[in-house]
Amino acid sequence: MLKTQPIVRAQGKGIPALGLGTWTLENQECIDIVEEALHLGYRHVDTAQAYDNEESVGKGLQKAKIDRENIFLTTKVWFENFEPSRLKSSVEDSLKKLKTDYVDLLLLHWPVFDKADMRDVLDALMKVRQDKKALTIGVSNFTTRQLQQAQEHCDNTLVVNQVEYHPFLDQSAVLKKVKEHDMALTAYSPLARGEVFENETLDRIAKSRDVGVAEVVLAWLRSQDQVIAIPKTTSKDHLKSNLKSLDLKLSEDEIEEINKLKRPDGRVIDPDFAPDWD
Ligand SMILES: NC(=O)c1ccc[n+]([C@@H]2O[C@H](COP(=O)([O-])OP(=O)(O)OC[C@H]3O[C@@H](n4cnc5c(N)ncnc54)[C@H](OP(=O)(O)O)[C@@H]3O)[C@@H](O)[C@H]2O)c1
Repeated sequence: MLKTQPIVRAQGKGIPALGLGTWTLENQECIDIVEEALHLGYRHVDTAQAYDNEESVGKGLQKAKIDRENIFLTTKVWFENFEPSRLKSSVEDSLKKLKTDYVDLLLLHWPVFDKADMRDVLDALMKVRQDKKALTIGVSNFTTRQLQQAQEHCDNTLVVNQVEYHPFLDQSAVLKKVKEHDMALTAYSPLARGEVFENETLDRIAKSRDVGVAEVVLAWLRSQDQVIAIPKTTSKDHLKSNLKSLDLKLSEDEIEEINKLKRPDGRVIDPDFAPDWD
């Protein structure tokens, strides 16, 4: 692991605080960005069955020639695959595409349990971990109530809840719950899918520090205990500037100012199968 990569600890496991998101990356562009990210020092890559790019992510990982044990790789099970035997075979399929024997973290992508009971799905997830095809397991888009139920069922062994988090969205309730369970919160869409670049406050702080807005936002996320961020980019320059956010330490005043940007309509990802958010 590079010295510059801070680690977040969840349930005793170390997770690099900055990862590469890959949603919408595909084919050669995906292969190239994953390879370049690893060459630049990224050690955490996030994909999902639903992104339809596990094969390209796997090729990028292979081309980068970094020892597998030094990479933290996450994938997610789509809810159409929640029926227990299907979950198992879908993960095997993911591993084949990713060209690896295991993922570091396996998540349930969305809490949609109309095809199978949550407890059965969690049992199937724990079985994957028992079979060492996932070193750790977790969830995504779970509300505090769902997370509490899931942790009770799994003897408090889930390590991550991956949820949308950026300056425009208040996630204090989810973060509090995650900390109670010694977990990490992985912030997805940490740049609000580009909306952060339209904000005057963030722009002013970035200019005063002579850095980009993405660096400011990623530094703000990193200033919070137990928070990991996985920005996605198609640009090699943006890969570099996002990594440089690790060198930026915001002042208390700057953090306070960014804390005030949250608003009730700040959520950018809200499909019709989403839960009743906290
Ligand atoms: N669990 C879930 O349900 C879920 C849902 C959504 C996302 N995710 C994960 O979270 C990852 C990140 O979220 P996201 O892809 O929705 O959006 P995001 O990371 O918030 O934003 C991506 C956008 O920001 C731009 N960008 C990135 N770095 C930049 C920089 N330094 N300067 C200027 N622009 C920059 C990108 O454009 P360029 O390409 O031009 O850089 C792209 O338009 C996903 O890829 C995925 O892995 C998970």
